[in-house]
Amino acid sequence: MKKDLLGIAELNKAEINAILDAAAVMKTAVLRGEKPKTAFKRLLVAPLFFENSTRTKSSFERAARLLGAEVLGFDVAASSVSKGESLTDTGKTLDALGVDAAVIRHTNSGAARFLAENVSASVINAGDGTHEHPTQALLDFFTMREHFGTLSGLKVTIIGDIKHSRVARSNIAGLVKLGSEVCVCGPQTLLPAQAETLGARMFTNAEEAVADANVVMPLRLQLERQKAGLFPGTGEYFALYGVTDALLKEAARGAIVMHPGPVNRGTEISTAACDGAKSKILTQVENGVYVRMAVLNLLAAARKRRS
Ligand code: CP
Repeated sequence: MKKDLLGIAELNKAEINAILDAAAVMKTAVLRGEKPKTAFKRLLVAPLFFENSTRTKSSFERAARLLGAEVLGFDVAASSVSKGESLTDTGKTLDALGVDAAVIRHTNSGAARFLAENVSASVINAGDGTHEHPTQALLDFFTMREHFGTLSGLKVTIIGDIKHSRVARSNIAGLVKLGSEVCVCGPQTLLPAQAETLGARMFTNAEEAVADANVVMPLRLQLERQKAGLFPGTGEYFALYGVTDALLKEAARGAIVMHPGPVNRGTEISTAACDGAKSKILTQVENGVYVRMAVLNLLAAARKRRS
């Protein structure tokens, strides 16, 4: 790996598969109750969450602790960011404290790259605006590969607010490289102009998009990033695009349901589909820990090689 993990777009197929393979090794070690082999003697990880998170922040913290790393308690709301300290100065302060890896989530697309260019710590993008969320996509790939054995030839249908979704962007970038067919679906106003140039087929009809899909992935409506008036209302949205057991009848035999979370039941997915036998939503959360262990360790190994 390079110094940082900023996006799936900058990884090639071999690099993605190397991370997934390393995550599988981490999972085996953790499930056996063994301490995973690591590339470091000490590792200090700083989570910098300028935007709320349940899964990603706690998953990185758990991953770091399972590796035997130290987690720096950094609460953005209680930090000197509220006194006007810049991202660069915050980053340089973390460097001076000996931080090896900074995990950043930020509302601004490009914030992770900006930080990476200004600090010597490795930077991991934990979601920047509408740009990328690489570790979410990697845990999605890991979960698909674990279930199906390969991503090559899978049809993956992502339904929802594709336009504002960093998860969709990262998933499309990686799935295309890994040989999956990617379909994105939503109201025209929530589809990006460039999805087809990224390699995804676009649909506005959910039944057509889900037909014979192996993976159905509804996404949350990102109301905090939308202008008003992009769809009539959540009730009508659910009627047209909600993932329900009825819609899943269109999918391939053995299809699974995935969702990055947080889930809004009754808006993009029904409770029955969310909690049903096809759902891999909580497996995704568990696998996220192993994927983030792999990423932290591979970045530490890359730092060691450079030093
Ligand atoms: N999937 C995801 O990024 O969830 P959080 O916002 O809870 O971290």
